[in-house]
Amino acid sequence: MNAPLTDAQGNEVLKQHLIDPEICIRCYTCEATCPIQAIEHDDNNVVVDYSKCNLCLDCIPVCPTGSIDEWRFVETPYSLEDQYSWMEMPEQAQISAGSSTTGDDGALDDPIASLLAEAHKGAGGKAKAPATATKATVNMYNLGNPVEAVVQGNYRLTDDGADVDVRHIVLDFQGKPFPVLEGQSVGIIAPGMNAEGNPHLPRLYSVSSPRDGERPGFHNVSLTVKREDDGVCSNYLCDLTTGDKVRVTGPFGATFLLPTDPDARLLMICTGTGSAPMRAFTMARQRTVGDKNGGMVMFFGARTPDSLPYFGPLNKVPPSLLSKHLVFSRMPGQDKEYVQDRMLVEQDQVAEILQDPKTHVYICGLKGMEDGVERAFTSIAESFGQQWLNLRDMMRDEGRYHVETY
Ligand code: A2P
Repeated sequence: MNAPLTDAQGNEVLKQHLIDPEICIRCYTCEATCPIQAIEHDDNNVVVDYSKCNLCLDCIPVCPTGSIDEWRFVETPYSLEDQYSWMEMPEQAQISAGSSTTGDDGALDDPIASLLAEAHKGAGGKAKAPATATKATVNMYNLGNPVEAVVQGNYRLTDDGADVDVRHIVLDFQGKPFPVLEGQSVGIIAPGMNAEGNPHLPRLYSVSSPRDGERPGFHNVSLTVKREDDGVCSNYLCDLTTGDKVRVTGPFGATFLLPTDPDARLLMICTGTGSAPMRAFTMARQRTVGDKNGGMVMFFGARTPDSLPYFGPLNKVPPSLLSKHLVFSRMPGQDKEYVQDRMLVEQDQVAEILQDPKTHVYICGLKGMEDGVERAFTSIAESFGQQWLNLRDMMRDEGRYHVETY
């Protein structure tokens, strides 16, 4: 056990685990994962109980946004009440280091740095919004105060014969404010109770429409929902009909956002319903930069063409705006192909866009694809003499690398 950290006055300094309320999308995965119930929530925020947290870090890799990855050196831990009241993280207080520091710069040693490095393996980690992104509104409606939306339409996106049922669901907020940006998520509260007799927690869905609505100026919001076997909320949503009322929380997420710079380029990698934010980005760019060369490249993986959401509309987006690589894993008589396989086939195009300082990378979909995509990036970065981890961390730091997987 390390000697306790102390400040210059000899007071003990603690390292407290916290959650960034601005970035958190309230999916409650961390709370469900924590083996000792050290994470809890109220209507507003998800918080960590300092007196319970044993720094096992099981919650770090499961967080889809990196909001779980906040730490402060403190002399007195922030209470649950403090954390529940936050709209954003407090700054790190100035603490002058004492004798337990080993750094030459007088900074406090980080007692769990090596543990964290382990938990950070993979493509997740602390995200930053693009420098030119519009400031996102978050948590406007919460568990205790959801907004009621009305279903404007519910359309099946996958062929009737396809083995996945993915739906495009359009919600109208009836004039109530719901300022959403492309890349944000909303929570949907299914009616009824769970097996423990408690109301269902909201389930998170990425918005698939641009900020000004499915049609410009309509300010409605669309979601891309896959019907999951035994999925309470996905079945509820997929069975909704026009005119039904739905309780919605959010919007959530302040980093997986679109740069407003018209010269920015996007490299989008997604599987299945991870295509939702990519649809929103593509439509937003079409509306703002038109069909001029928008510099967007997409790798999109699905089982078959008839189970790929938005297959028809996607194919109508001009190649000058969006270079599409649709990749299929279950084509009869063909080898399984994943997005990461195709990235390697298209290595020259990926290498070119990766080296452009205007490029933003977005990865959304199955958590399982992260490792494969990282390996593809590692090999492609080597082809132009760069270490992928250095490039990735630089891009993340500059708000140009965004991952949301589940
Ligand atoms: P698979 O045919 O092996 O399931 P889903 O339809 O379940 O939402 O998945 C979307 C696509 O993502 C499918 O083509 C699926 O292939 C693929 N996929 C599954 N696991 C991975 C992975 N580890 N890396 C990349 N793609 C994956």
